[in-house]
Amino acid sequence: MQEMVPIQIIQKLFSDDLFSSGKSKYVLMTNFANYLVHSCTGTSFLCFLFCVLRLLSAVWMHMHILIWCRSRTELNGTELSPIVHSAKLKSTCHREVVAMVKKVIITGASGLLGRAVTKEFDNDPTWEVTGLAFSRATANLRKVDLTDEQAVKKIFEEIKPDVVVHCAAERRPDIVENRTDEAWSLNVSGTQILCQASVDCGAWVLYLSTDYVFDGKSPPYSTDATPNPLNKYGKSKLEGEQITLKVNPDFGVLRVPILYGEVTFVEESAVTVLFKKVLDMGNSCVMSDYERRYPTLCEDVAHVILKLAEARLKDPSVKGIFHWSGDEEMTKYDMAVAMAKAFDLPTEHIKGDNQPSGGSIRPYNAKLDCSRLEAMGIGRRTPFSKCIKGILQPFFKTQ
Ligand SMILES: NC(=O)c1ccc[n+]([C@@H]2O[C@H](COP(=O)([O-])OP(=O)(O)OC[C@H]3O[C@@H](n4cnc5c(N)ncnc54)[C@H](OP(=O)(O)O)[C@@H]3O)[C@@H](O)[C@H]2O)c1
Repeated sequence: MQEMVPIQIIQKLFSDDLFSSGKSKYVLMTNFANYLVHSCTGTSFLCFLFCVLRLLSAVWMHMHILIWCRSRTELNGTELSPIVHSAKLKSTCHREVVAMVKKVIITGASGLLGRAVTKEFDNDPTWEVTGLAFSRATANLRKVDLTDEQAVKKIFEEIKPDVVVHCAAERRPDIVENRTDEAWSLNVSGTQILCQASVDCGAWVLYLSTDYVFDGKSPPYSTDATPNPLNKYGKSKLEGEQITLKVNPDFGVLRVPILYGEVTFVEESAVTVLFKKVLDMGNSCVMSDYERRYPTLCEDVAHVILKLAEARLKDPSVKGIFHWSGDEEMTKYDMAVAMAKAFDLPTEHIKGDNQPSGGSIRPYNAKLDCSRLEAMGIGRRTPFSKCIKGILQPFFKTQ
């Protein structure tokens, strides 16, 4: 067998061959073993020690790359792209380079939750983010109608994401009730199109869903509890869940309850919209004090989504249904009072109504059991009273 001197071995340790073929690794190891035998008997001990240290560091680096490659291959059923491959080989600090190549597509990136998710991933330099929007597309958000199969295919083939966070949906229950076909086409058909495009490019999908898939009669609901949606919105989201997991049972579904966060106008969230009545102190108003809600901050959900995506990239058993929710039980009346208190405003004009809300039927108490994510060490809960003032402040000033 041909012998190799230390410098050749070191060069080889960082060569393409080592990374591209297990076979060449073993040839190299054999050569190296030969060299060790010679160095022990003939050459200096220091040179031997140096080579062993270099070998250990190369093996350590190689192992990390192999683990990452395997998880990506299992995840996507695809090999690394040539660009990614060569970028890694050129780097002596592979961790950063490997991490940089994680690509995420976020649908509904112009929406309430999508904005927070986009920000969370954008703030992490190890992710390359593509946000999709529709009517609110900007220079930074690509305009794609998710009901247009060709448009979806095109952008997925171009981006080749590792992960897709699917936030886009028609999520206003009363709108879904009245414009069912339109809503169905986005929530159900759009999800089917997106999941198929994700399968084709080997991406993992996380589909955002809702506590409205439950009837709210026997809380808390575990991830394997039987859904029984009461309204068309809940039904459309459940159908989207089922399609997602049917297209690929390895995909994920994350159910969340009523959301709030930074809004561009108060009506954008079913929580912040209550502030209008809180501020309208000259007129008395009636606020639902019946249905139990668990208002959840979008930034907390975005944090959970990022952690979940990262967990999935490391561990293919991360799949199926997950729940995340705030843990403060509040009615809309409670939320309105908390808002008033945050701004030292009177509450006498706000009256609680302990009858079921009008409009489409809402579940009474669809509390989500979040123990699956908690057991994975994933989660964050910001108290309502801690952040609601900051969120509403811009709308208080302008009154
Ligand atoms: N908000 C909540 O309280 C709540 C509670 C539980 C679950 N969820 C779930 O969380 C997810 C995010 O909700 P959200 O409150 O962030 O929704 P949102 O603010 O209403 O945003 C909806 C998003 O969907 C996009 N969209 C609408 N039609 C589209 C189309 N044809 N093609 C592509 N994109 C389209 C919108 O884009 P443009 O605005 O640019 O048109 C927007 O970015 C949804 O899946 C929802 O079911 C929300």
